[in-house]
Order: sequence, then C-alpha cells, then structure tokens
Amino acid sequence: MNKKYKIASLFSGCGGLDLGFIQNGFEVVWANDFFKEAVETYKNNIGDHIVYGDITQIPSSEIPENIDILLGGFPCQGFSVANTKRSMEDERNFLYKELMRLVKDKQPKYFVGENVKGLLSIQNGKVIEMIVDDFRSLGYDVEYRLLKASNYGVPQNRERVIIVGNRLGLKNPFPKITHGLEDDLFNKSTEPYLKVKDVVGHLANVRTRDKSFKLKGETIYNHVARTNVSDKFWGRKHKVNQHEICDYLKEWRNNLCK
Ligand SMILES: C[S@@+](CC[C@H](N)C(=O)[O-])C[C@H]1O[C@@H](n2cnc3c(N)ncnc32)[C@H](O)[C@@H]1O
Repeated sequence: MNKKYKIASLFSGCGGLDLGFIQNGFEVVWANDFFKEAVETYKNNIGDHIVYGDITQIPSSEIPENIDILLGGFPCQGFSVANTKRSMEDERNFLYKELMRLVKDKQPKYFVGENVKGLLSIQNGKVIEMIVDDFRSLGYDVEYRLLKASNYGVPQNRERVIIVGNRLGLKNPFPKITHGLEDDLFNKSTEPYLKVKDVVGHLANVRTRDKSFKLKGETIYNHVARTNVSDKFWGRKHKVNQHEICDYLKEWRNNLCK
C-alpha cells in the first residue's frame, strides 16, 4: 500500500486494534483513552499521538480532519456474557454513541467497531440491530460478523463482533479465513491452526533475568520487578516476590508446551 490511509482511534486502550492496522500499513494519527496506565503503555509502544481524556468531553474539532477510517473498540463490560447483570441500563453500553457522533462529524470513508460476542445475544439480538440501524441512519452501509482470531493465525479462540461501515457505496471488506483444522478433508485452502507452542514455545526454557537478551535472533524481554508486591492479580493473599510469579509463569508455559 503506497498511500498510508489515516486512522483516528477511539477507546484505544493499550493499542491492540491499532497495532493490527499499523502492521498492515495504516497510519494512526489520533487516538484516545481515559485509562491512564493504558495511555502510558500506548505511548511507550505505539506513539505519542494518543490523547488522555474522557471522549464524552472531547469536541469533534480536536480530532484531525480527513480521516479515512475511524476505529472504536467501544467498551464492552455491559455487553459481556461474563457480566450477569448486562442490560441496557448500563451506561457504558451507550458509548458507541460517541463513535456515532464522530462518524457523523468527521465523515470517515470507513468506520470499524469491535465488541464482544455477547453483544449479539443481548435482548435477543435487538441491541446489535439497534446499533447497526443507528449507523445506517448516518448514511453508511453497515455489516457485522463474528470473527474468530484462530481462523486468522492467532493461537487463541477469541471471538469478536466486528462492525464495518462505509459511505462510498462499496462492499464492506471482511478478511478471508486463512487458518483451519489440519485434517479437514473438505478444506485444503487454509493453513493449520497456530498453537500457543508455535508462538511462545521458545520461551519455555528462558531463565529469569534482569535484562532483555537475544534468543535465536529474537529479543526476549523479561520483565522482573525487584520489589515485593501484594498480588491481587493471581488472587494471592500474601505478599509474593515477582521472581516467584515468573517461576509460576515458566511452569505454566512448560505445561502448555508439552
Ligand atoms: C475494550 S477496551 C478497548 C481495547 C482496545 N481497542 C484494544 O484493542 O486494545 C475499551 C477501552 O475504552 C476505554 N474507555 C471507556 N470509557 C471511555 C471514555 N468515556 N473515554 C475514553 N476512553 C474510554 C477504556 O479505558 C478501555 O481502555
């Protein structure tokens, strides 16, 4: 791709969705999130174009003109099946309206929304239809699909609803499946699914070290904190040493790679 298409990204978090677009030749010129740590992570790994702040308080005029694509992995806690109280009363469910506001004001050629699978079943599918109708009312041709990461060469069975809209009267592009079952007699056009071992198996025997180092030409970053921390993440009640967490991870990786 010669011309770099310009992207503005809402609800960017630490930049997962943005990274995918960047790796495919797009340029993210503006991004936003109101979660400080995510914004710092984004700045470290992706770039300084991310703006820290609540999107509901940011006027459209602060977002660059001539955006080709507007991205919005809008918040999903309210829609998630993991949230048993999911409902339309959850105000986080209405943040897609911010994506709508900016689609309306910035008129990107395309927009891409991303959300959890639960979005499709909430209120028997009425919610996704409402969202799609809302975007259609802005003059966009809108389609959505449930895509599974493992079908595209990611070692993870994560499913996500991807909503794509364009105002050019074109067919919305969805990627062709590239990976599938190895022994699928009826489909020989895909590569075998990638396994976790294929991607991080080489880390199984990495020793806990302070600095990054090279292994088979790849830089291995070994993040080791020096302090004891009260570790909520692993659900431990007592203080644990970060080295132990690394050992725990090593054990876990070893099991995965057997
Ligand atoms: C599902 S995550 C997005 C993940 C991201 N797209 C990625 O690929 O890594 C939703 C993000 O929306 C952010 N968010 C929620 N409400 C917001 C608001 N009012 N203004 C800005 N960001 C908000 C959260 O901090 C969170 O990082």
